Amino acid sequence: MRRRLAAGNWKMNGTAEGLSEVEALLQAHLSPRVEILLCPPATLLAQMNWKKGQHPLQLGGQDCHAAASGAHTGDLSAAMLKDAGAAYVIVGHSERRTNHGETDEQVAAKARAAHEGGLVAIVCLGETLAEREAGQTLDVVGRQLDASVPEGATGLNTVIAYEPVWAIGTGLTPTRDQIAEVHDFLRSRLSARFGADAAHFRLLYGGSVKPSNATEIFGIPDVDGALVGGASLKAADFSPIINALEQVAEMELP
Ligand code: PGA
Repeated sequence: MRRRLAAGNWKMNGTAEGLSEVEALLQAHLSPRVEILLCPPATLLAQMNWKKGQHPLQLGGQDCHAAASGAHTGDLSAAMLKDAGAAYVIVGHSERRTNHGETDEQVAAKARAAHEGGLVAIVCLGETLAEREAGQTLDVVGRQLDASVPEGATGLNTVIAYEPVWAIGTGLTPTRDQIAEVHDFLRSRLSARFGADAAHFRLLYGGSVKPSNATEIFGIPDVDGALVGGASLKAADFSPIINALEQVAEMELP
């Protein structure tokens, strides 16, 4: 069975002051039934790692370089993130694809580097509004899935996050049917490539997940959790989202 995952992406937000939010989150979820992940700015990873102590909270980076080391001013390798306490790294977030022109091939190279560096890669994909309106959603996400997920990916070292670009930070979310259609499609596409292991890949939904819509989104088949941006910054918002995921996980217990 796939372990549900509530992942928070702080993006370029947070300084040491934000550590009090982590403290509140740890207190509110002393023995979580689901996996909780925070991806803060890399500057906070080591401090968060120290703060969490033995708590099962997982930490992740928001990007990594495709190379293991070298002359790449300003970049971070997967091994560096791991050294600072990360177990995960997000690759191919739409903001990286847009702001830094990252291609599927570069995203695949980063995911491969993550695997080689001992991190789980969260590979992000999703259509723009224009692509959805042109009826191209499944073509786009299918192409991104094929090209951004590298050889060697498994259900253990890779998580897929479906994040429609038009839903990120906008307050807009796809309908239940739209999310279900894409997740079902992604699962079949993974099956065609990875066979039985496809069942082990976790598929997250991301884009304007908040306490008020989390329960509905987590009830959609094949949604194994969420990648949450804005609503992960404050424990008061992220915690009810984690609770909603825990409730769904609990209902599934035999
Ligand atoms: P949002 O961001 O929750 O603020 O829409 C999601 C993401 O970009 O991962």
